[in-house]
Amino acid sequence: MTGPALPVLSGLVVPGDGRGRLLGFPTANLALPERLLPDDGIYAAWARLPDDDRRWEATASVGANPTFCGDRARRLEVHLHDVDRDLYGQRLSVELVALLRPTLRFDGVEELVARTAADVAASRRLLAR
Ligand SMILES: Cc1cc2nc3c(=O)[nH]c(=O)nc-3n(C[C@H](O)[C@H](O)[C@H](O)COP(=O)(O)O)c2cc1C
Repeated sequence: MTGPALPVLSGLVVPGDGRGRLLGFPTANLALPERLLPDDGIYAAWARLPDDDRRWEATASVGANPTFCGDRARRLEVHLHDVDRDLYGQRLSVELVALLRPTLRFDGVEELVARTAADVAASRRLLAR
């Protein structure tokens, strides 16, 4: 895949709006200056903790979550596919690998959840290559 190089972003995991877990896709929200964020979109990604050789498959969202409230700050949040653990206060490093689609404003939560499931499937296929 060609296109502009995507960044590796590293930041402390901070509380989000606490909605992700209810939707079935918990996310780690990273504290980062907005100017470091790439364009809004949904990305396949690898996530790592410091001093840990493992890398975890992930799907990341960059944007202001327009389905819920378009006026809040843009941010990076990361859903880890196979790990469900409390990462609050830890420094997570996120390597964006490929843009999957633009961030969308959905008419309802069901559409968002269905699309998120499809994103995770696409991300898995891409990262398995
Ligand atoms: C793979 C993935 C795709 C997402 N796509 C969108 C999107 O297109 N539009 C949107 O408004 N939010 C999108 N989100 C963000 C969700 O709205 C957000 O994760 C959810 O509201 C939970 O936020 P919270 O962690 O602050 O509670 C996406 C999240 C993930 C993990």
